[in-house]
Amino acid sequence: GKVCLAYSGGLDTSVILAWLLDQGYEVVAFLANVGQEEDFEAAEKKALAIGATKFVCVDCRDEFVQDVLFPAVQVNAVYEDVYLLGTSLARPVIAKAQIDVAEQEGCFAVAHGCTGKGNDQIRFELGFYALKPDVQVIAPWRDPTFFERFAGRKDLLDYAAQKGIPVAQTKAKPWSTDENQAHISYEAGILEDPDTTPPKDMWKLITDPEDAPDKPEDLTIVFQKGVPIKLSYTENGASKTATEPTDIFLTAGKLARRNGVGRIDIVENRYINLKSRGCYEQAPLTLLRKAHVDLEGLTLDKEVRHIRDQFVTPTYSRLMYNGSFFTPEFEYVKGMIAPSQKTVNGQVRMRLYKGNVIVLGRSSETENLYDATESSMDELTGFSPIDTTGFIAIQAIRVKKYGESKKARGEK
Ligand code: ARG
Ligand code: SIN
Repeated sequence: GKVCLAYSGGLDTSVILAWLLDQGYEVVAFLANVGQEEDFEAAEKKALAIGATKFVCVDCRDEFVQDVLFPAVQVNAVYEDVYLLGTSLARPVIAKAQIDVAEQEGCFAVAHGCTGKGNDQIRFELGFYALKPDVQVIAPWRDPTFFERFAGRKDLLDYAAQKGIPVAQTKAKPWSTDENQAHISYEAGILEDPDTTPPKDMWKLITDPEDAPDKPEDLTIVFQKGVPIKLSYTENGASKTATEPTDIFLTAGKLARRNGVGRIDIVENRYINLKSRGCYEQAPLTLLRKAHVDLEGLTLDKEVRHIRDQFVTPTYSRLMYNGSFFTPEFEYVKGMIAPSQKTVNGQVRMRLYKGNVIVLGRSSETENLYDATESSMDELTGFSPIDTTGFIAIQAIRVKKYGESKKARGEK
C-alpha cells in the first residue's frame, strides 16, 4: 500500500522513509511550505533519491495567515501567558494539506516523525482522524520495531550510510527546531537544563536586542473587525504600505525581528503532562497581538472584553495547544471570536525599539465607546457625581455585612 510521509529532508525522516520502503510500503513524500527557511528542491531530490514514488510540496502560507494566524491575533491567543503558539498554529494547516495529498495520491496511511513525548504527535494525529476518519497512522517513534532498532543517533547514521542517504556535513545543532512564518522554536539537547542560558548564536530570526538599531522604528497598523488590514512604515526615507494579509504578517515580522522584538525562554506544560523548556522567536505575533490588545481598549465593550478574556481566549489557546483544532468544542469557541470583534476598527501607532514594543497612540474613525469629555477628570458632564454616591452605597451593602461577620468571628 501507499503511505504519505511528512518529510523534512532531515536525518530522522530520511531514515523513516527508507525504513518504510524496507517494510514494503510505497511512499509519497509530503512537505508543507508554512514559511520556514528551507531548501525545498534539495528535500525533493533527496526524497526521490532514497526511493519515494513522488514528492509533493504544498504552499500553505496564505491559508495559514488567513485561517489561523489572523484569528489568533483577533482572539489574542496565548498559552501560559507568554507562548504565542507558533508551532501549534501551523499543525492544523499541515495536517489538512497532508490528508489532501494522501487522498489525491490514494494513500491508505499517513506517517510522521514526531517523538512519542511531545505535543505534535497529538496535534497531527487528531487532525488526521478528524479529516479522514478511516486513515491509518504510522508513528515510527512509537513503534517498537522502529525505536528498538534505532535507539540512538548513531543507529540512524549507520542506517543512513548503509542506505546511501547523504547526511548534511554541518555538525548537528545541540537542540531541535521547528520553524514557520510565525516563529521558530528551540527545544531539547542542551536546553533541557532549564538553567542553561542559550548561546547567543542559537537565536536565528530576531536580532539580539543589544545589537538592534539605536534609532526607534515607528509604524501604524489599521484593523478592521480585529484583523490587520494595513501596515504602514518608513524605510530609507520612503513610505511603505502592506495591505495583503501575508504581506502584512511578514512585514510585521520583518520590522519586529530587526528591532529585537519577540524572543522568549520558558518552561511550559505539555499536553502529555511533562514540563518542557523551550525558547521561541515569535516576532510578528508579538507586534500584532500587542497592537490588537491596545485597540480593544479603545473600541471593545467592557463586559464583552472581560468575558472574552476570561473564557474565550484561554479556552481557545489551550485547545489550540492541545491539538483540538478539528473538534466540536474548538469550532464552538472559534465561533465566539467574530461577535467580539465587530467594533475593533481603527488604528494603532507603534514604536519598536531594542526589544520593546511601545504604543504611541490609537484612534478610531467609526467607534465611539470612548468619550474624552465624559471620561475627563476636569469635566462634570455625562452623569451627576451624586449618582456615584448611590452606586457605592449599593455596592457597600454586601461589603459591610462581610465586615460585620468577620468582626463577630474575631477574624482579622
Ligand atoms: N513546545 C512547542 C509546542 O508544543 C514547540 C514544539 C516544537 N515541535 C517540534 N517538532 N520541534 O508548540
Ligand atoms: C516532538 O516531540 O516531536 C517535538 C516536541 C513536541 O511535539 O512537543
